[in-house]
Amino acid sequence: MNTGFSPWAVLALAASMSGGAFAQDKIKVGFMLPYSGTYTALGVAIENGFRMYVNEQGGKLAGREIEFFKVDDESDPAKATDNVNRLIKRDKVDVLVGTVHSGVAMAMARAAKESGTVLIVPNAGADAVTGAMCAPNIFRSSFSNWQSSYPMGVVAARQEGKKTAMTITWKYAAGEEMTNAFKEGFEKEGGKVSKQLTLPFPNVEFQALLTEIAAARPEAVFAFFAGAGAVKFVKDYYAAGLHKSIPLYGPGFLTDGTLDAQGEAAQGLLTTLHYADELGTERDRRFRAAYAQAFKLQPDVYAVQGYDAAQMLAVGLKATGGDIGKKAVFQQALEKATIASPRGDFTIGKSHNPVQDIYLRKVEGKENRRVGVALKGLGDAGRGCRM
Ligand code: BEZ
Repeated sequence: MNTGFSPWAVLALAASMSGGAFAQDKIKVGFMLPYSGTYTALGVAIENGFRMYVNEQGGKLAGREIEFFKVDDESDPAKATDNVNRLIKRDKVDVLVGTVHSGVAMAMARAAKESGTVLIVPNAGADAVTGAMCAPNIFRSSFSNWQSSYPMGVVAARQEGKKTAMTITWKYAAGEEMTNAFKEGFEKEGGKVSKQLTLPFPNVEFQALLTEIAAARPEAVFAFFAGAGAVKFVKDYYAAGLHKSIPLYGPGFLTDGTLDAQGEAAQGLLTTLHYADELGTERDRRFRAAYAQAFKLQPDVYAVQGYDAAQMLAVGLKATGGDIGKKAVFQQALEKATIASPRGDFTIGKSHNPVQDIYLRKVEGKENRRVGVALKGLGDAGRGCRM
């Protein structure tokens, strides 16, 4: 029988009637983020930013509607494999977006690598994710832990003239990698880190360690904490009076999204990060105004990273004509892309980590004001990455 249609048209029609053609299906995005615990606000800001970009595109990317699935990862590495498999195997998502905590992100990367599911990491800086664990289907819209903190070590020694420092953090990949990166930058410029203090994640009993710092009297302290833990640490450091004699430095997570709660205790703190409040560009102004209007909140670095994760997905989908199954095309599009981020344009390096400016910021009132660029166009070496 001659239907008058080509065989391809018949197949496409049949597929669309059965709901099977990709052009008719929604793209399934699985958020695996912390919606409870010390990093709750970070997870919420990432989801807000991601959804905001999708809404700006009318709810579709490359002509395809987006359907969201959510899992609360609780920032718990022990539950990470089960949680990510809920999204991959039960919900059959096309794209994983997550997460905040480096230990959880490494389990996600392992599962993404095994299943071939596209993973976009919107925060967690675990160096291995774009290092030894790198893969063609794994991308990051945020930073590597090394990238966030090496520049602060350089600034503390070279610009601030400090000769000795101590570090303090939670004992897990993010804290260890950031404090080691600070040490690397600081010692390369002639400083000496005398002691690296840690406590278990997400413990906030800082008193004994602050007493140890007071007794050792280094010229500076570098700390990584984030979310609710950062609020408590900065306030405890101030309450102990340490801010008067020992300047506190950190990666920007120490003061990002936390200034309302930290108040007076955070004033004057210097940090390094790939975002700052009010960068003064038209792109950033538009983003900030839209975010404030949509969520009745000021955006922070986490919101920017979520927004940019959605931008990256859009770039990949556009190149594939909306068919995320074309993995090689998706990958090549991102490797060539320049992302017009509120933070400033960035590109995606060989190991799929952003190449970006790292700003030096100073807390003034309720803002992390940019006071300079600590290192321009900084990439991550992607140690151990073979793709
Ligand atoms: C991390 O675990 O990689 C991380 C968590 C919060 C802020 C920055 C990094």
